[in-house]
Amino acid sequence: MRATVDKGLCAGCGICTDICPEVFEMDGDLAFAKVDKVPAEAEGTCRDAAQQCPAEAIMITEDGDC
Ligand code: F3S
Repeated sequence: MRATVDKGLCAGCGICTDICPEVFEMDGDLAFAKVDKVPAEAEGTCRDAAQQCPAEAIMITEDGDC
């Protein structure tokens, strides 16, 4: 599974980095996904972060999707 942050949507609220610091990190006012592939143990919190992002800026892609 992969996660990406749409920098055009991110409002910099930082919820994602609080919930799932294994995947998300702030770069100034914007978050980015610091890993290419989400570690298995972080998949749950990564999904939570995507759901709770108020800007809906986090996209989750399951492996095998094209
Ligand atoms: Fe941005 Fe959403 Fe994270 S607004 S900082 S991607 S929780």
